[in-house]
Amino acid sequence: MDKFVIEGGYKLKGRVKISGAKNSALALMPAVLLNNGINRFENVPEVNDIFTMIKLLKHLGVSANFENNNLELNSSNITNQDAPYEHVKKMRASVYVLGPLLAKYGYAKVSMPGGCAWGPRPINLHLEALEKLGAQIILDGGDIIAKADRLHGANINFDISSVGATGNTIMAAVLAKGESKIQNAAIEPEITNLCEYLISMGAKIEGIGSSTLFVDGVDELNAANGEIIGDRIEAGTLLIAGAITKSKIEIEYNNINHLGAVLSKLKDSGAKITINNNLIEIDSSNIDAKSIDVSTAIYPGFPTDMQAQWISYMTLANGTSTVSDNIYTDRFSHVPELIRLGANIERVNNMAIIRGVKKLKGAKVMSTDLRASASLVLGGLVADGKTEVLRIYHLDRGYEKIEEKLSRLGANIERIKTVEF
Ligand code: EPU
Repeated sequence: MDKFVIEGGYKLKGRVKISGAKNSALALMPAVLLNNGINRFENVPEVNDIFTMIKLLKHLGVSANFENNNLELNSSNITNQDAPYEHVKKMRASVYVLGPLLAKYGYAKVSMPGGCAWGPRPINLHLEALEKLGAQIILDGGDIIAKADRLHGANINFDISSVGATGNTIMAAVLAKGESKIQNAAIEPEITNLCEYLISMGAKIEGIGSSTLFVDGVDELNAANGEIIGDRIEAGTLLIAGAITKSKIEIEYNNINHLGAVLSKLKDSGAKITINNNLIEIDSSNIDAKSIDVSTAIYPGFPTDMQAQWISYMTLANGTSTVSDNIYTDRFSHVPELIRLGANIERVNNMAIIRGVKKLKGAKVMSTDLRASASLVLGGLVADGKTEVLRIYHLDRGYEKIEEKLSRLGANIERIKTVEF
């Protein structure tokens, strides 16, 4: 298990390019199961969750070729519709194969994803929507077995806005007979990216980008090429790296409008933000950050996937701030680790109360999930002395070459291969 060793206190400087969004790629890749042919994707990040999805698709019969962020998936020869536990346990997004397999092949068996590091993450909304589209669903021995001769259009009104349930439902509805109306659909950019890709396959979807989608099912879909949008969470994480180290850096990122809530909070904290086409400059040179409260919300609100990183930033701000997570109320495993670095954080239910301290001090800390790990790296960049971030395999699931990017910006960070007993 690799670890990062970070020597804190180095200023950052320069420009860094943001990779493709893993959460977009994870939604678009299973969509190839809806067609029979060669699909090419550009800007796919080379991170472990993508390799996990490739392995799952290969298990289903898709052949894959992945080089230099270009991914080719050939779905002409699907051999089975069974996503077993060994794949799903590694990554919950595996459940994205359920909708397309069911819609195209009338059958899917997908192992039920369990809880995750920060508590339960149900998939009831996915299953209820598929049932409305005419699927018969049974749970058997830890597997979801879904069957339908052909799905039919339906009215679906989600109680909670869910990225995954929206993605799965759209991928099922595009091949259903008749029209579906999906209300309270997620409007996250990754869902828009998916809808646009499905349209290039020949799907009929209206209302893209809004919370009401109309999907008119078609009989078949053709293979198509897609481009993965830039990763708004990586962009936000690196901007905070600039802010927390009181540096001036630039990020190269094509989808600046996806970052509104994060940029606005950064500005409130005192960081100077300048936008020039696809470049965002953050200048926090000699700026003491102000304490700014954050409350996570569905898009376009402040993303839950940036909550941990914001807490890190606030540990050194002037005054007291609160960070509440309304999407995943238990997603705070980074808090005790940041406290090991000297942060003053109290957790009350779904809220962290952060009292800014003058400095953090390097220590050994443990990654517990992807974004928590990112927050520890941010802490390490400013902590006095040496911080070791253990178990960075979590980070490797979703950040492409993060230590190379940070090193190029001037951080002192090194990956060490370790064997844990
Ligand atoms: N929910 C239900 N029932 C469901 C589905 C969701 O109650 O059937 C609830 C969840 O418990 C949560 C809320 O709905 O409270 C929203 O969850 P959502 O379904 O939107 O999350 P997801 O699709 O499982 C994606 C991202 C997550 C990100 C969330 C929220 C992917 C592969 N994952 O998960 O990304 O946190 O949306 O934006 O797109 C990450 O990248 O670190 C990550 C965890």
